[in-house]
Amino acid sequence: MHTYDPFDPAVINDPYPFYARLREETPVARVERLDLWVLSRHADVVAALRDPATFSSASGMGLLLGGGPPGPMRDLMRSRQTGFGGMIGFDDLSSLRLLIASDPPDHTRLRRLANRGFTPRDIQQLEPRIRKICESMVDDLLVASVDGSADLVKHLATPLPVVVIAEMLGIPSERRNDFKRWSDATVGALSASMQPSDDAATAMAEMFMFFTEIVEERRSNPRADLISRLVANDGAEELDATEVVFLCILLLIAGNETTTNLICNGAAALFPRPHLCDRLRDDPSLAPCIVEEVLRYDAPVQGLFRSTTRAVEIGGTTIPAHAPVMVLFASANRDERQFSAPDEFDPERPRKEHLGFGAGIHLCLGAPLARMEARIACEVLLERTQRMRPVGTAKRIDSALLRGFSTMPVALEPVR
Ligand code: HEM
Repeated sequence: MHTYDPFDPAVINDPYPFYARLREETPVARVERLDLWVLSRHADVVAALRDPATFSSASGMGLLLGGGPPGPMRDLMRSRQTGFGGMIGFDDLSSLRLLIASDPPDHTRLRRLANRGFTPRDIQQLEPRIRKICESMVDDLLVASVDGSADLVKHLATPLPVVVIAEMLGIPSERRNDFKRWSDATVGALSASMQPSDDAATAMAEMFMFFTEIVEERRSNPRADLISRLVANDGAEELDATEVVFLCILLLIAGNETTTNLICNGAAALFPRPHLCDRLRDDPSLAPCIVEEVLRYDAPVQGLFRSTTRAVEIGGTTIPAHAPVMVLFASANRDERQFSAPDEFDPERPRKEHLGFGAGIHLCLGAPLARMEARIACEVLLERTQRMRPVGTAKRIDSALLRGFSTMPVALEPVR
């Protein structure tokens, strides 16, 4: 087996044996080619996520924007980015206050304002609408199944989160295809094989312009949508226009492909386990446990970045100051020190903290929404079909950070 490198196609194809070896042999590893440090044990990943003063997101996640500490990782990320970096320059970009790439006190303020649109009540209220959207997509999937063209990615897992977040933001439905294109172009910069393209740069520029216009428009004509709530001045604090634009872009990017991956990784886990599908059909109240176990077993976000603000010693190894660090959520989720029989898919295992949504101050803002979308997708598929099975070959996405599918051909039998 090669040594671990997050961009190695063998790792992307099946990362779990590599993670097991990292946890066992080098829990604090350094990928020499990239001068990148890697944390793979649950306890170490959690400790890093809970210590933002030492493990900075402003600098670490800034790498994804072409900022962060100088070195081969930053050069690699810059060579893949032509979009925002090309538009406003990498140095300006890394100083932007983007929620996921910020530290306290900026993060504290941005998160408080972002939370405005994601209270448990806000999310709960979406349930009937998400169910309707899901029902119509599952109906499309059933129709496509008649001529053998049904694809879980194309007909359900991709459009569902796009339509939901677009409706929440109040984006006109005719722009939804643009939404998906913009999101893909931005996320594409993280793929292992992607080369920078003018199309990606154009897509990102379009997305930026679109949100800038809509944010200005909602500021003067507020409606009952998320953007209007985000731009609202409640007398105390407000987000400036660029912060709102970047928050909208983050919501679009952070919530789309991740949720698509959750739904498809769930299907991939269930297909070879017909006994679980039967259990689920007998007792649909198991759906939330299935969703939770998918997040642990095959995490849609495998890992992300931090950067050290000082030299730090972990288990006898010292990571120097200003070093990029990859925190491997998906490896932590398979850590035998945290979970018994971690390589088994067991929705009824005792609940323990998994890191599918991260942990600490950056814990996923959209977690309740993503959980709800995946649960409803599962419930609606159970209600409307007698059986769903894979046909042909499903294709994994090519990404160093995300894990999911780009196609998943399926055949469905409708309920009679
Ligand atoms: C299954 C679907 C999803 C997964 C697996 C996922 C995963 C994650 C993870 C691991 C983080 C932590 C980032 C870090 O520690 O650096 C995160 C943060 C975040 N997620 Fe999600 N996410 C999902 C869906 C969503 C959705 C639907 C939205 C919104 C519509 C969303 C919005 C965000 C935002 C805004 C952050 C940054 C929070 C902060 O920095 O305070 N995510 N997500």
